[in-house]
Amino acid sequence: MKRMALRYTGKAKKMYETDDPDVLWVEYMDQATALNGKKKVHIDGKGAVNRRISAMLFAELTETGVPTHYLSAPDETTMLVKKATMLPLEAVVRNFVSGSFERKFALAHLLPLTPAVHEFYFKSDALDDPFINDEQIIALKIADAATLKQVHALSDTVNTYLTRRFAAIGIKLVDFKLEFGRLSDGTLVLADELSPDNFRLVDEATGESLDKDVFRKNEGPLTPVYEEVFARLQKGVQHV
Ligand code: C5P
Repeated sequence: MKRMALRYTGKAKKMYETDDPDVLWVEYMDQATALNGKKKVHIDGKGAVNRRISAMLFAELTETGVPTHYLSAPDETTMLVKKATMLPLEAVVRNFVSGSFERKFALAHLLPLTPAVHEFYFKSDALDDPFINDEQIIALKIADAATLKQVHALSDTVNTYLTRRFAAIGIKLVDFKLEFGRLSDGTLVLADELSPDNFRLVDEATGESLDKDVFRKNEGPLTPVYEEVFARLQKGVQHV
C-alpha cells in the first residue's frame, strides 16, 4: 500500500489517500490539543501509543461484530482504514458525571448515570461544536431517523464492550466520544479513533485520571499514562 496525497490534517492525526481508492492512510501524530485546538503541544511517543490502543480496540470490536473502518496497522504510527463519508457528529456516551456535563448541571463528580446518557455535538470549528439533539439532527438533514437509531444502538454496543473491557483491568469508563461514517456501499461504520484522547478513564484503585484530562489539567506527562493503559489492556485481553 502506497501513501499518496495528504487529504486532511486534524488535531492529532493526518489522513492521506493511498493507491487504493477505498483505503485511507492515517498517521497518528505526537500532538495533543485541548480547548478545541486553542491549546496545542508536541508530545513524544503519543502517536505510537494511541495507534496501538486504537488498533487493538478496533480489531476487538470488529471481531465482536461491530462494523468499523479498521483494516490494519502496518507500522508504529500508521493505521489503514476504509474510506468513509463521515457524519459531522460527535456521539458522546456518559456512564458517570464528569467534564462538561458536571459543569452544566453542577452535579457531584462521577455520579453514576442510568441509563447511560447519549449526547451529540455538531462538528463545526466555526461554531465550536455546539450541542445538537436528535430532532435537530433529523430536521437539518445531518442524518435520517434510521441512521440515528443505528448510531444509538452501535454506541450502546461499544459502551457495553468497553465498559467490561476496562473494568477487567481496574479502570472505570466514565465517558467517551465516537464518530461514525458511511462506506461507499452504504454500510454505517464506527470510525475515527479509540484512545484515551477520546475516553475519560479513571483508575478504580487510586481515582487518578488515565486519559487526556492529565493534559487538559496540566497534571504531568501524558505518554506514560497512555502507556500504562495500553499495558493493562494487553494484560487484560484474556479476561474479557
Ligand atoms: O468535555 P465533555 O465532558 O463534553 O467530554 C465528554 C467525552 O467526550 C470525554 O471523554 C472527552 O474526551 C470526549 N470528547 C472528545 N472530543 C471532543 C469533545 C469531547 O473526544 N471534541
